[in-house]
Amino acid sequence: MTVDSSSESRLVSYLIALRVEDELDIVSLATRQKFRGLGLATSLIHSLEEDQVKIFLEVDARNDPALMLYRRAGFEITGIRRRYYEGKWDAICMSNSKRASYDPASKTRVR
Ligand SMILES: CC(C)(COP(=O)(O)OP(=O)(O)OC[C@H]1O[C@@H](n2cnc3c(N)ncnc32)[C@H](O)[C@@H]1OP(=O)(O)O)[C@@H](O)C(=O)NCCC(=O)NCCS
Repeated sequence: MTVDSSSESRLVSYLIALRVEDELDIVSLATRQKFRGLGLATSLIHSLEEDQVKIFLEVDARNDPALMLYRRAGFEITGIRRRYYEGKWDAICMSNSKRASYDPASKTRVR
């Protein structure tokens, strides 16, 4: 969680994750619009990695900023869950292990 101390201590970026032993699932991550592009989400992700856990997440295949964020943070694509969101939109599964199987630029599977 990151707080803007200069303006009424408002929450500007947060990450929610569930941890079971040495595995961790990111369930929600967001940065307030005005504070995006400053590296806040990246630093929250890196703070999780200090614990040497294996991290998993799902992200909407249409969410290019989030896909770029996770790729730049060293996450690799491990699979696709078809029609995961609202029964319509695919989810991209990622983890911080090295198993790429999907190219977000082309939105197609690569093997
Ligand atoms: C995705 C999100 C959390 C990124 O937060 P952020 O604090 O701005 O992220 P960072 O500043 O750490 O950005 C790191 C990288 O993400 C990528 N990125 C972030 N915003 C981007 C955008 N609008 N377009 C393309 N890439 C983007 C870039 O690669 C960026 O690295 P760079 O600045 O060196 O190019 C934020 O845009 C957000 O809250 N979006 C709405 C909620 C959401 O989609 N959450 C993810 C659900 S899985």
